[in-house]
Formats: sequence, structure tokens, C-alpha cells
Amino acid sequence: MTIPSAPLSSATLDQAVRRLAAGGLVAFPTETVYGLGGDATNDAAVAGIFAAKGRPHFNPLIAHVADHAAAAALVLFEDWAWTLAERFWPGPLTLVLPRRPDSPLSLLVSAGLDSVAVRMPDHPVALALLSAYGRPLAAPSANRSGAVSPTTAAHVAESLGPDAALILDGGPCRVGVESTVLDLTGPRPLLLRPGGLALEALESVLGTRIESATILPGTAPRAPGMLASHYAPTLPVRLDANEAAPGEALLGFGPGPATLNLSPAGNLTEAAANLFAMLRALDHPDFAAIAVRPIPERDLGRAINDRLRRAAAPRG
Ligand code: TXA
Ligand code: MG
Repeated sequence: MTIPSAPLSSATLDQAVRRLAAGGLVAFPTETVYGLGGDATNDAAVAGIFAAKGRPHFNPLIAHVADHAAAAALVLFEDWAWTLAERFWPGPLTLVLPRRPDSPLSLLVSAGLDSVAVRMPDHPVALALLSAYGRPLAAPSANRSGAVSPTTAAHVAESLGPDAALILDGGPCRVGVESTVLDLTGPRPLLLRPGGLALEALESVLGTRIESATILPGTAPRAPGMLASHYAPTLPVRLDANEAAPGEALLGFGPGPATLNLSPAGNLTEAAANLFAMLRALDHPDFAAIAVRPIPERDLGRAINDRLRRAAAPRG
């Protein structure tokens, strides 16, 4: 069932909290994408998330928290982590940190790793739900595993079916791509997933270059979820296209003709916000494939190109 959550009534909040307390799932808006939330301390609820998404159990989930203190009960914070949390939370930054020995989280959340990914989302509905429930929520993006992430409540219902969760409709997501995932468990920070917070912003606060796990040669993926094919529409995707071939839809960026345009003005923030909804809209039997104009590899362009490369990768 989908219910409007802007403004969020206390009756809706009560219903959502009861659902979570019973081990059920609640899909909620964040500033990045919609999350499929369950009580992160309840094994059955977390198992329900994996089942609803068809997600492989080796791929760990992000624990969402209402504030810094709630995060500190789950993971061990060191200097870097505090600096970044103080500066960027609430916001589209997920920190991978050592799990506290006394962490109440279900072991399923971290898929057997000794680290946990935590984030405080910047959305009034998400924060109200987290505060009212009073426990961390495990929440992956609210789509079937491997498919395009949802940026509206309608996308969630389409992807998971109307009954998989109570869906709180908070309108379209402002950022539109998932959070940036930064691993702070090693000697140096490591970018596991480019996302809604620009790498450049992290580097300037830390005063150091940050390496990307995705480009370390010859290493196994550090983020188990970084499978090559992901975010995949049904149609094939062709990157760095200057024009559409016959039968193709053209996803534009910057001035010029296009079937749909991520940002006619060439604004990367606007393009990120439009990315998933436009990929869904062009994923239509009228077209043979989706061709995409080149996107600059800086700021939110890194996250956009990462998602597009996975959308274009050979399907497993
Ligand atoms: O913006 C977002 O991050 C959204 C919203 C709902 O918060 N959530 C999201 O979750 O994108 P999900 O599950 O689709 O992606 C989480 C990513 C995966 O790539 C996963 O492998 C990685 O974070 N991850 C989670 N825990 C980890 C850990 N302990 N170590 C390394 N990577 C981890
Ligand atoms: Mg996802």
C-alpha cells in the first residue's frame, strides 16, 4: 500500500512504526533514492528485505540512523569518521566502519563482514521515521536486485509490487543517485561507490586524494555489491554516443536533440536527479536500445557514469 507522507501525519507514522515492530517492511523516501527499510536489529526483518529484493545474501546493507549518537552505538568512530559525519550528515554519505563488539545489529546486515555501513539520510520523512522507531533501519534501495533504483513511490510499487512493503510517498528524491560509500576501515580512506556526495568535497575536507576501489587493478571488489551489471534497464545501453542509431532512444546531456535530456544546460546535479526516472521512461519496447551522450567525469558525473557503465555492462 502507498500512502502520502508529505506532510507526515502521526497516524501514518504510527502505522509505519507498528509495521516495523512486527518485523515488516516500510519503503521510505531519502534524499538519494527510496529505501526498503526493516528493523536492522531483527534477523527476520532483515531476511525479509533480502527476500523482497531477490538480493544475494553476500551483499551487505546500510544501517540508517536518526543521529550521530545512534551511529556511535553501532560502529567505532575514529577521527576521520567524526570529521566527515559532522560535516556531511545528514546527507548522501555512507561510512563503512568497524562494527562495535556490542552492536545490536543483526549479523545479516553486514553479511558476515566485521564492518558496517552507516548513514544518516537528509530527508524529513526518513528522519521522522528513524526517530519515531528509535532503532536503526537496514535499507537498500527499494528495487529488485540489479534493477534501476527508485526515485519515486510509483517506481517502488512497480519494482517490488504494491504489497511488499508499506510505501511512504514523499515525492521525487532530490539527489537521485545513491549515497557515496567510503570505507574507513583501512589505513587510508577508500571510495567504494561514487554517489550523491562529490568525491571532490570529501577530498577537500580530508585534505587528501581518495583512491577508488573500483579502479584498483587485480583486487576483488571491496564492496560486495559492486557487481559489474547493475542498475540495468531491460534494453541494451550504449555509452558516449553522439547521436542515436536508427531505432535507438537518445538520452541527452547538454544542448542538442535528444529523446529525453538529463540536463539541457549541462548541469550534473540536475542530471543526477533525472537519471533513473529517464532511464525507466526510455526503457520501452518502442526502442531497440538506449544511447547516452557523454557525461563529464567530475562531481556528480562520477556517480552518473558509474551507474551508466553498470547499466551498459554485459548482463550476468
Ligand atoms: O543512497 C543510498 O545509499 C540508498 C538509500 C536507501 O540510503 N541505499 C542504497 O543501498 O543504495 P544499497 O543496499 O542499494 O547499496 C549499499 C552499498 C552496496 O554496494 C553494498 O555492497 C555496500 O553499500 N555496503 C554495505 N555494507 C558494506 C560493508 N560493510 N562493507 C562494504 N560495502 C558495504
Ligand atoms: Mg541498490
